[in-house]
Amino acid sequence: MDKEKKLNTALIIGRWQPWHEGHRELFKAALSRAERVAIGVRATHDTDQKNPFSFEEVKKFIDEDLKKDYSGKYVVVELPNITDVIYGRDVGYNVEKITFEDEVEKISATNVRKSMNLTPVKHEVDSFEREKRSGHKGAVIWLTGLSGSGKTTLAQKIERRLFDKGCNVYMLDGDNIRDGLNSNLGFSDADREENIRRIGEVAALFARAGFIVITAFISPFMNDRKKALKAFKDNSYEIYLSCDLETCEKRDPKGLYKKARIGEIKDFTGIDSPYEVPKSPNLEIDTQSLSIEKSEKALYEFIIEKISIT
Ligand code: ADX
Repeated sequence: MDKEKKLNTALIIGRWQPWHEGHRELFKAALSRAERVAIGVRATHDTDQKNPFSFEEVKKFIDEDLKKDYSGKYVVVELPNITDVIYGRDVGYNVEKITFEDEVEKISATNVRKSMNLTPVKHEVDSFEREKRSGHKGAVIWLTGLSGSGKTTLAQKIERRLFDKGCNVYMLDGDNIRDGLNSNLGFSDADREENIRRIGEVAALFARAGFIVITAFISPFMNDRKKALKAFKDNSYEIYLSCDLETCEKRDPKGLYKKARIGEIKDFTGIDSPYEVPKSPNLEIDTQSLSIEKSEKALYEFIIEKISIT
């Protein structure tokens, strides 16, 4: 008992309506500074739409998330509606603000609450049945690279080759999708983010339907690609077509670099809009020096290995 009393304990105070992944990160950060964490639940619970859960429910959510990995490392305590934390001199504890990377900071309890009101509907046909019929798994093969790096060319060739082999395969290409589904989007960072978010979801739908999806989008931002791949995390791969700007600009198959250079097109990737090179892609194809045939071979062999065609 005494020993437990003396445990160094970090206190985190919140409403936790509901407890979510961001809170878990805060908990982990707190635990790294002490021997256990006291999770204080402010008594705002069950009062309005923003606080729909009772203390017991909040505690249940926390236990569901933490008990397995952190049993004995935390206690959940009911607190009054704390609105100020005041401390004087030499109180014997630290007060510290912890900040996280954007992705964690953006997790919002409001959004989590919204999605809690959705009830996912189960399919009668499961992925194994689909796989058995088509002879292969669904997959997302996410090509990324500068304009002119060869994404569309490779996607077209691979689509043909896999189709001829009897696979369910479909290419999603930037110019096509921007003409339809994403015709309301431009090339600002925010629009590119939304472009890639939607493609990620569409690709995941196709993949769940059993298709091998080959996507050909510049997808210049690392975080957006990460999220898009996460939409079908079972079998998604990031393929970086590496080719330097100079070479892409020389190729300039659509004459767009030329227009970007004279200011006729704004926010052009590589010119006045950034491209974030993948740090650890599942495959990198050097389309700068490899022939189209060799690049295609590398991609084809990679796909065959990953989707286990029967
Ligand atoms: S992404 O950045 O949002 O991934 P996406 O791959 O959909 O871009 O679209 C790129 C295609 O749009 C290019 O192949 C090119 O034909 C055309 N395009 C038109 N304007 C731009 C621009 N400012 N930057 C990049 N591509 C552009």
